[in-house]
Amino acid sequence: MSHPSLEVIVLAAGKGTRMQSRRAKVMHMLAGRPLLAHVLSTADSLSPDRIHVVIGFGANDVQDYFKACPMKNEFRWVRQEQQLGTGHAVKQALPFIDHASTVLILYGDVPLVSQDSLNRLVEAGQGDEVAILTAYLDDPRGYGRIYRDESNEVRAIIEEADASPEQREISEVNTGFIAVNAGRLKHWLDRLDNQNRQNEYYLTDIISMAVSDGFKVKGIQAGDPYAVMGVNSRQQLSALERHIQRNQAEKLMQSGVTLMDPERFDLRGTLRTGQDVVIDVGVVVNGHVDIGNNVYIGAYCVITDSVISDGARIESHTVIEGGHIGSDVRIGPFARIRPGARLDEEVRVGNFVEVKNSSIGQGSKVNHLSYIGDATVGKQVNIGAGTITCNYDGANKHHTDIGDHVFVGSSSQLVA
Ligand code: UD1
Ligand code: CA
Repeated sequence: MSHPSLEVIVLAAGKGTRMQSRRAKVMHMLAGRPLLAHVLSTADSLSPDRIHVVIGFGANDVQDYFKACPMKNEFRWVRQEQQLGTGHAVKQALPFIDHASTVLILYGDVPLVSQDSLNRLVEAGQGDEVAILTAYLDDPRGYGRIYRDESNEVRAIIEEADASPEQREISEVNTGFIAVNAGRLKHWLDRLDNQNRQNEYYLTDIISMAVSDGFKVKGIQAGDPYAVMGVNSRQQLSALERHIQRNQAEKLMQSGVTLMDPERFDLRGTLRTGQDVVIDVGVVVNGHVDIGNNVYIGAYCVITDSVISDGARIESHTVIEGGHIGSDVRIGPFARIRPGARLDEEVRVGNFVEVKNSSIGQGSKVNHLSYIGDATVGKQVNIGAGTITCNYDGANKHHTDIGDHVFVGSSSQLVA
C-alpha cells in the first residue's frame, strides 16, 4: 500500500505576548536564525509533499525574511488574520490540503524538535490513529497536560489555564506536534468551540473528540526535553540558546578545537575548522566561517562569513566580516576587516586599522591606525602609521593602486 501524501502545517501567526516585543515571536533569533527557520528546515528535511506556514502577526516581515533566504521546499503562506487560537490557525490551512493526506502539525515556537521524533510521529499517524508527540518534563508549567485513563490510554489534552490543581501535577506534556488524517482533522476542527479560560479555539481539543469518536490516540515520546521546549518568553529563549551553544561547543571540542571556555563561545551559524585551532574566550562566530589548521583566535573577536587560512593569528578584539585571510597572517589586536578584504599570506594588520574591499599582497604590513579602502596593495609593501586611502569624493568611490615593495611614510593621505 502506498503511503498517503504528507502535508506539514507550521503555526507561526501568534504575537507572542509574553515576549513583550513588536516582532512576531517566531522571528526572534536562536543561534543566529529565527525560531521559525529552525522549524522550517526540520520540516524541509522530512521531504513532505507540501509545507503550509500559517502567519498573521508581523506576517510581512516573516515572508520578507524567508524570501531572501530560500530553502529547498517552497512554502505556501496562509494568512490567519485574527489569532483566535491554534485550532483556528490550523483550520486556515485546511482548504489547501488534500483530505486523503496525513497532516503533520508543527509549532513555529518549538524550534529544536528532531527529525527522528517527527518521522516516528508521522509513521504512527498514518493509519486510523491520531498521533501526538509528548514528553515528560521536570517542570511542566505552561504546557498542556496529557490526561490518561486507568488503562493508560490518552483521553484528552488539558491546557494549563483550564487544568485543576491535580491535573497540573501531571508531568507528561503536549509538545504541540500532531500527525493525523486531514479529512478527520477537518471534521473535528469544524466542531471546535472557544468555551475555555482563554476563549481560544484550541487545537488540543480535537484529542478528546477523537477519543469520543472511537479513534485511538497514540502518544509518541520525545526523548530529549530540550527538543520539545517552546519559546514563550525571553527566559525560555535564552535557555534554548545556551543549550544549543553547549552542544555546538561540545562538538567542536570533539573535533579537536580548543575552546578556552566553552561557556564563553557563541556560534551563530556554521563553523568548519582544521586541526589545532585555539579559540580564546568571548569569541562570536556568525554566518559561515571556515578556519584552517593551527589558527589562533584571540579573546573577544567577532568573525562573520569569512575564511581564515592555516597558521593565521587573530589577536583580541578584532572584527572580521566577509574577509579572506591568507595563511600566517597576523591581525589585531583591535583591527577591523570589512567585506571584500583579501589579505595574502604573511600580511600584518595591526591595531586600529580598517581594511575594506581591498587586497593586500604577500608580506605587506599595515601596522597602525590606517584605513585601506577600495585599494590594491602589492607584495612586501610597508604602509606607515596613519595612512589613509581617500576613496570617496562625496559622490563616488575610487580605487587606489599600490605596487610591490612600496614604502608609504606615516600620516600619508593617498587620494584615489
Ligand atoms: C500550545 C498548546 C499546548 C502545548 C504548547 C507546546 C494549544 C491550545 N496549546 O500552548 O498544549 O503544551 O503549545 O509548546 O495548542 N499560533 C497561531 N495562531 C493562533 C495562536 C497560536 O499561529 O491563533 C501559533 C503561535 O505562533 C505558536 C504556536 O501556534 O507558534 C503555539 O501557540 P502558543 O500561543 O504559544 O501556545 P501555547 O500556549 O504555548
Ligand atoms: Ca508556545
